[in-house]
Amino acid sequence: MNEPRGTIRLAALTRSYGRTTAVDGVDLDVSAGELITLVGPSGSGKSTILRLIAGLDRPDGGRVLVDGADVAGVPPHRRAVAMVFQDYALFPHLTVLSNLTFGLRVRRVRRAEADRRARAAADRLGIGDLLDRYPDQMSGGQRQRVALARALLRDPSVYLLDEPLASLDAPLRFATRADLLALHRELRTTTIHVTHDQHEAMTLGDRVVVLADGRVRQVGPPQQVYDEPADTFVAGFLGSPPMNLVPGGGVLGGDPALTLGVRPEDLTRDDAGPITATVEAVEALGSEAILLTRCPDRTRLIVRTGPRPGVAPGDEVRLRADRLHQFDAATGRRR
Ligand SMILES: Nc1ncnc2c1ncn2[C@@H]1O[C@H](COP(=O)(O)OP(=O)(O)OP(=O)(O)O)[C@@H](O)[C@H]1O
Ligand SMILES: [Mg+2]
Repeated sequence: MNEPRGTIRLAALTRSYGRTTAVDGVDLDVSAGELITLVGPSGSGKSTILRLIAGLDRPDGGRVLVDGADVAGVPPHRRAVAMVFQDYALFPHLTVLSNLTFGLRVRRVRRAEADRRARAAADRLGIGDLLDRYPDQMSGGQRQRVALARALLRDPSVYLLDEPLASLDAPLRFATRADLLALHRELRTTTIHVTHDQHEAMTLGDRVVVLADGRVRQVGPPQQVYDEPADTFVAGFLGSPPMNLVPGGGVLGGDPALTLGVRPEDLTRDDAGPITATVEAVEALGSEAILLTRCPDRTRLIVRTGPRPGVAPGDEVRLRADRLHQFDAATGRRR
């Protein structure tokens, strides 16, 4: 088989721990050079999938193919895969420089050359002045950058990144996200990026994979998944605040066979709007405001408005729903 470097295929991949099925029949094709974002609630199997691809764990069923070849018998260090772990996994007794050069030295790269490459990777991630520190002398965000730099030094077919930005503060996270994107554009190395950050899920990947209970719920370009969620779970998971979902339609237009959904930004204040609701709370977020409202039938609706909405708890507002999503009330599937 002659596949381009960096393809991944997961076929009916399954892994259970005792009675917990962490990964439950996952099929996924990642093409060479693609950046895929894996999102899902805590415990949905994201890290387990990465560990199975890296060879740090064995599947109970199904297959992992990297570059077209089944990697079942291939030990982790022989797989062309570099993983950045959720908890960094740095060597505590080694300096940053030694952490970075360790893998190169194991592969018999000469010291001067290993140092040179390590310094270049560290500079690129803005930790060039921390090379003499030990992991416990750094912040979580700095450690995360060391782990990323170490992965950069491996030149793998595939990067597996398990929430690599989770412990960065907001500005650094923003900057590092841009760095990661630029790096991917330059290197074009296939990357699977795990996150539960909404912003990252929407902006980072060519496609997003939404997982729940070890199963793939939906795969597609982020905007498409956002615009046309396959079921009520995806509708509620992608987007913050989440989509308003009303079983039986209720204030959005009654139909017992349906659950109707409307995103907070698609609820517009309109004095002639058909929905009446009482404001219960106002969250002013600076660039926008979120109104938590309640309709006479007790339905809660979350409304996204511009900043300074000029309403207070107790006020009544009229709303119209500009874009409704229809789901089957029994199965939750999109109609
Ligand atoms: N070594 C293990 N032994 C037993 N159960 C495990 C093990 N590893 C994972 N699990 C279970 O498998 C499920 C999936 O875990 P996994 O770590 O893949 O979730 P995750 O999606 O990465 O979650 P998080 O967002 O919290 O990191 C969880 O229910 C977890 O408790
Ligand atoms: Mg995890």
